[in-house]
Amino acid sequence: MENPFKYGGIVTGPYFADRAREISELFSEMRNLGRVFLVSPRRYGKTCLIFNLRGKLKKEGYRPVYLDLNAYPGLASFAVAVTEKVSKALESSADKLAKLISALKYLRPRVEVGPDGSLAAGVEMIAPGREALPALLEGLHYCEQLAAKKGQKLVIAIDEFSDLAKYDGQIVEKAIRSEIQSHTHIGYIFSGSSQSVMLAMVRDTQRAFYRLGRIMELGPIKRDEYMKFILKWFKKGGYRLKEVNFEVLFDAAEDVPYSIQRMCNILWEKGRSTRAITQEMVEQLPMIVARQDSAHFELIWQGASQGQKILLMALAREQDPRPFSKDFQFTYGIGPSSSIKASLDSLVKKGILYKMPAGKYKFADTFMRYWILNLAEADSPIPHI
Ligand SMILES: Nc1ncnc2c1ncn2[C@@H]1O[C@H](COP(=O)(O)OP(=O)(O)OP(=O)(O)O)[C@@H](O)[C@H]1O
Ligand SMILES: [Mg+2]
Repeated sequence: MENPFKYGGIVTGPYFADRAREISELFSEMRNLGRVFLVSPRRYGKTCLIFNLRGKLKKEGYRPVYLDLNAYPGLASFAVAVTEKVSKALESSADKLAKLISALKYLRPRVEVGPDGSLAAGVEMIAPGREALPALLEGLHYCEQLAAKKGQKLVIAIDEFSDLAKYDGQIVEKAIRSEIQSHTHIGYIFSGSSQSVMLAMVRDTQRAFYRLGRIMELGPIKRDEYMKFILKWFKKGGYRLKEVNFEVLFDAAEDVPYSIQRMCNILWEKGRSTRAITQEMVEQLPMIVARQDSAHFELIWQGASQGQKILLMALAREQDPRPFSKDFQFTYGIGPSSSIKASLDSLVKKGILYKMPAGKYKFADTFMRYWILNLAEADSPIPHI
């Protein structure tokens, strides 16, 4: 049986854990053609959630369209992509498509003949660069008109939306808002992981997206729900799990679905020959992942200053580090607070640490903590998979 714990890509169907409530919430927003800003830290499952919603939307007669802003370095390519994807979602005849698009001012149809003689219509920009914003607005306007003409309801999901700033920021935001706020045939999902950027877009009264839609903050999956999913698969695979406690796995993963999936994937392989899972196997998992990623951590480590390394080691050793407390500074022989603050800021900037809203610091990659702990205890070998 193939390993059911998938990670790294888009996970759908039976391999996707829980999120029933979130899917039905998003679905009901889209049924009302609402606008939702889907926000979470990285690797919580926003993209997977959007893809799992697609099936439900299609079943109910909606036309889902997905765009990832990462794929469009320039506004012109984004304008082309929106128009092309929406056109294809609503019209399958290349002929009709070409006709529709030829009515546009900034975009034009591109008809290709396939090896079997079939025709496929695409979209391209007439004048790139300067005209990109009008082209995008024209494209969005056309999407709404086409949906109305076809009597169809569209759901456009734009992933990595916090990247929007790369297209000349606020001018683009304002223009997009003014266009889409009148749309009555399209529901929008704007998804992004840079929480501060996303939330500022929607909550800042000065910003264009202020109150354009509701914010949906995606939290972790509840442990008991995730546990049901994990146990269901192990049972299906004929594994025996006697009195195994998974809390240590959830703690190490800090409830991030990607990290949970990764450890469960390893656990499945480790138990494949014996079909038996023991507590010891579960407890070794964080170190195994740390070892698999060690080349990456090694590079980060080499780029840190001596002071930063000492601070990182100290942070790794504490469950709930308080770097500004006297205790912490005394225990690890570091300080004063001003230099710790400077190191912390620099580590956050480099993406090694993550500053929580409550002012606490944690490792951006939870497994780095285990890698550092292992460095510090060089005589405790990392178990091999
Ligand atoms: N409900 C789930 N069930 C199983 N695995 C999940 C689930 N949600 C997320 N994952 C795992 O987490 C990984 C990352 O998910 P996804 O790419 O959707 O996160 P994201 O929030 O979009 O991350 P990013 O902000 O980095 O784009 C997936 O490849 C999958 O392994
Ligand atoms: Mg994503």
